[in-house]
Amino acid sequence: MAKTGIRAVEFIGDSLVYLDQTRLPLIEEYVKTDSYEVIAGAIERLEIRGAPAIGVAAAYALALSLKGKTQNPRETFEAARKRLASTRPTAVNLFWALNEISETFELNFGRSDLYTCLINKAGEIHQEDVEKCEAIARNGLEIFKPHSVVLTHCNAGALATGGSGTALNVIKAGFEHGLVDFVYSDETRPLFQGSRLTAFELKKYNVPFAMNTDSTAAFLMQQKKIDLVVTGADRIALNGDTANKIGTYNLAVLCAYHNIPFYIAAPETTVDRSCPEGGAIKIELRGKDELTCFKDVRITSDEYEAYCPAFDVTPSSLISGIITDKKLYKPPYNF
Ligand code: MRU
Repeated sequence: MAKTGIRAVEFIGDSLVYLDQTRLPLIEEYVKTDSYEVIAGAIERLEIRGAPAIGVAAAYALALSLKGKTQNPRETFEAARKRLASTRPTAVNLFWALNEISETFELNFGRSDLYTCLINKAGEIHQEDVEKCEAIARNGLEIFKPHSVVLTHCNAGALATGGSGTALNVIKAGFEHGLVDFVYSDETRPLFQGSRLTAFELKKYNVPFAMNTDSTAAFLMQQKKIDLVVTGADRIALNGDTANKIGTYNLAVLCAYHNIPFYIAAPETTVDRSCPEGGAIKIELRGKDELTCFKDVRITSDEYEAYCPAFDVTPSSLISGIITDKKLYKPPYNF
């Protein structure tokens, strides 16, 4: 369980309870469901989002597909697995978690308590994620010098994990140890995970911060206001190339130009052991409505075309270090 009081997902009384992140920060609404289909839709709409949180939710969802089912468990399980795997392609934690639950399914197939075995496994995945978040924060502390000012992008906090977060948990730990003085949070177009979610968390943690438009990052760096950048990751290739929220690569290029350290923080479950380099990472393309509208407000003509990749890939050559639950890796990366 996250020590922060912020919980993206929890399993309570045989149902998943999740905080609908599309409504934050103005409305804190929790949704309770035992339907894998509802959870799949929530992942697609980013009500549940952030690579580790998607993995944890998908694990519970796949297990829940067998709740109360005695007939044709394999067919039901396979249909649920396929549906959940189709929700978002880039965060590898989703596929990792589905595989873990599938292995447990095969090991226990035929048992009368199969559903319980799967729910217990999902609970283990969740608990491990909580512990990994704490380890990432510990391993990341060494990146800070006293009075650091940090820039982050998107949301890699408690809202994005089963625990207390990855990149934002490192930053929070830095603040709690008196090493981080101030945080700049990129608003993170088009869905504003920075100005809605990271800002919501920083406010709860009493960390001094300001939001900025994504395009302000260069100017902040030019004014020497940023000491380092830390972001999360959705998938890390074996050579360290890292997919994360669109705009992360921009920041890494800016950091190289301004000689500012650029760090990634993620659990080891975000490393894709089958992916040699970033070019092999599938990048999710989102619908153009995310650019033409915000919520129900149209902000430009829907006759215009739009290009909406949800993620980009930062080459490992631009990454100063990758903080995981095991350690702080330095280049050259060879996972
Ligand atoms: O589209 P999102 O909001 O799911 O994207 C999230 C990110 O890019 C995060 O930085 C990443 O998943 C790491 S979360 C600990």
